[in-house]
Amino acid sequence: MDAALAAALAGPRGANPLVGAVILSPEGERLATGYHRGAGTAHAEADAILEARRQGIDTSGTTMVVTLEPCNHVGRTGPCAQAIIEAGIAKVIYAVDDPHDPAAGGARTLREAGVEVRSGLALAESLDLNREWFDAVASKRPFVTLHIAQTLDSRIAAADGSSQWISSPESLADNHGLRRLIDAILVGTGTVLIDDPRLTARTPDGELSERQPLRAVMGLRDVPEDAAVRAADGRFVHLPTRDPVEALSRLFDEGVRHVMVEGGSSILSTFLAAELVDELIIYLAPTLLGSGTPALNDLGITTLADAQHWSWDEAGGGAVQTLGNDLRLHLRSTRTAASTTKNSIPRREAAEYVTGGH
Ligand SMILES: NC(=O)c1ccc[n+]([C@@H]2O[C@H](COP(=O)([O-])OP(=O)(O)OC[C@H]3O[C@@H](n4cnc5c(N)ncnc54)[C@H](OP(=O)(O)O)[C@@H]3O)[C@@H](O)[C@H]2O)c1
Repeated sequence: MDAALAAALAGPRGANPLVGAVILSPEGERLATGYHRGAGTAHAEADAILEARRQGIDTSGTTMVVTLEPCNHVGRTGPCAQAIIEAGIAKVIYAVDDPHDPAAGGARTLREAGVEVRSGLALAESLDLNREWFDAVASKRPFVTLHIAQTLDSRIAAADGSSQWISSPESLADNHGLRRLIDAILVGTGTVLIDDPRLTARTPDGELSERQPLRAVMGLRDVPEDAAVRAADGRFVHLPTRDPVEALSRLFDEGVRHVMVEGGSSILSTFLAAELVDELIIYLAPTLLGSGTPALNDLGITTLADAQHWSWDEAGGGAVQTLGNDLRLHLRSTRTAASTTKNSIPRREAAEYVTGGH
């Protein structure tokens, strides 16, 4: 399970949880490892089975150890429970039940097909791995990534309003890679009226990517008819509200499960103050402006004891990366620390189970 947890961290956060899977021989030897690379790609279980096939390994009679209950539904990929049954895997040990209604029930399907199933191994670690995602699923809201491209002194625009481009081309390319993964991108009316951004996902040579996020603008003022963000593809929505909870609820109803909030300062601060941000990505340019628009406004914090604390996030490429001349900082919220260890399988007992002790 430690290896499955480590593998899971290679994936990106977002609409889907981080999941890792390991296939073990009946003797407990590690045969293949897989992880989930984000919405629309193979799940960790299917990835591990594929890896075993690539190596010519016969998976019949093996054990799979996976950080989340194998799914039972056909989403953008097929059901993992079925893939496990077809691969002839004899035992499955997973950590956490899948809380996501359409996907739940994989354990029952496996048992009905004669696969031995146990759950609860490394329960606390696996809950912690995806604590923000569990929170988003339970609250029926999209997973929220907040993106800031800023100078060393936390400015997102100069005093004359110019803000393109604070970041290096490498950071921009990274941001457009994220835009291809997310379901929606959200800015305030202020950014639309000042910058008139397109908010599309583009390749480094400026071509439109195949997958485009929904472009959402939040605020009471109208979005001009000729605003670039409207484009002609129908992937635009105006959310006439200043309430971030309402904005997220509207987006959830539109089918959005991962939203990236891109600014400006009013919108960034609103989501942070409401503690609705799961993941923070900051592109830090080695530039000073001294004046101009600060990244954040008042968060309602007046004393250090009330400061918001974030932790460095090693998932999806690491907590600190160098992108051209910039640093990319990746952080996760600490507000939803997992607490439950109820029903955990003791590690020793689990090891005996793999090798037939149970
Ligand atoms: N470097 C970057 O990453 C980046 C990214 C984006 C923007 N920017 C820069 O940010 C600057 C724009 O900042 P901004 O603060 O004006 O833009 P903004 O946050 O995009 O929009 C602010 C507007 O959003 C509406 N709004 C919706 N909910 C709100 C709430 N809860 N609280 C306050 N306002 C709310 C208000 O307009 P209504 O009256 O319509 O409700 C408000 O005037 C521009 O200079 C832009 O270049 C930089």
